[in-house]
Amino acid sequence: MTRTLRFNLPARLLHWSMAALILAMLFIGVAMVTSLADYHALVALHRPLGILILLLAAVRLANRWRHPPPPLPLDLPAWQRQAAHASHIALYGLMLAMPLVGWAMLSAARYPVALVGPLVLPPILPQSPALYAWLRSLHTVLAYALFGLILAHLAAALIHGLIRRDGVFSSMALRETGSRTR
Ligand code: HEM
Ligand code: HEM
Repeated sequence: MTRTLRFNLPARLLHWSMAALILAMLFIGVAMVTSLADYHALVALHRPLGILILLLAAVRLANRWRHPPPPLPLDLPAWQRQAAHASHIALYGLMLAMPLVGWAMLSAARYPVALVGPLVLPPILPQSPALYAWLRSLHTVLAYALFGLILAHLAAALIHGLIRRDGVFSSMALRETGSRTR
């Protein structure tokens, strides 16, 4: 008997909504630092969306812990299995690190981390211009790393979906697109 192996519904909903949010954040970030006219409006959007990503990443990891993902196909070469594993760890790491570094750098600069309405997050670091400068560069470097990883991830997903057709893609699809069996 064949068995359909898929990520559970919350994992799939979180994957696709967070993919859209993270891509939007990368573009908002770049637009922010290249725009004078819309700078304040873009930063005001960038902060709460970034903190939302931090919260959703925590929910997603908790769901993953309770509902482990389906195993990769048994015939997948070991190096691809390891690459998938390492890149997923890096993606989760960056989903947590990007917002934390954003929050920390504004804290070090003593900028208010205003979210929506009267909601303002407390600083998580002491005031330090040197720390701000370092974290500000780190935020950019990590953003490039995240963008590069997403491109590699997209390429791998398309290889699974279009060339190998091994069900890895459908395991993350929102709607049933085929079954994934061991
Ligand atoms: C911002 C963009 C994205 C991020 C941050 C992201 C992140 C992730 C992460 C962390 C996982 C591992 C899930 C887990 O094991 O708990 C995953 C799995 C997956 N993603 Fe994405 N993803 C993104 C975009 C995409 C896109 C555009 C596609 C397809 C075109 C895609 C297809 C998949 C597939 C098929 C899996 C399942 C892989 C497996 O079974 O090991 N992702 N994604
Ligand atoms: C997944 C979450 C996040 C992503 C993907 C992201 C991405 C980016 C990107 C791409 C830039 C432009 C970097 C450059 O070109 O130098 C940027 C800048 C910035 N981000 Fe984020 N960010 C995230 C979360 C946050 C959070 C949570 C905050 C604050 C609470 C924040 C605050 C800022 C600030 C203040 C800037 C620079 C503005 C300036 O220098 O004028 N970011 N971000």
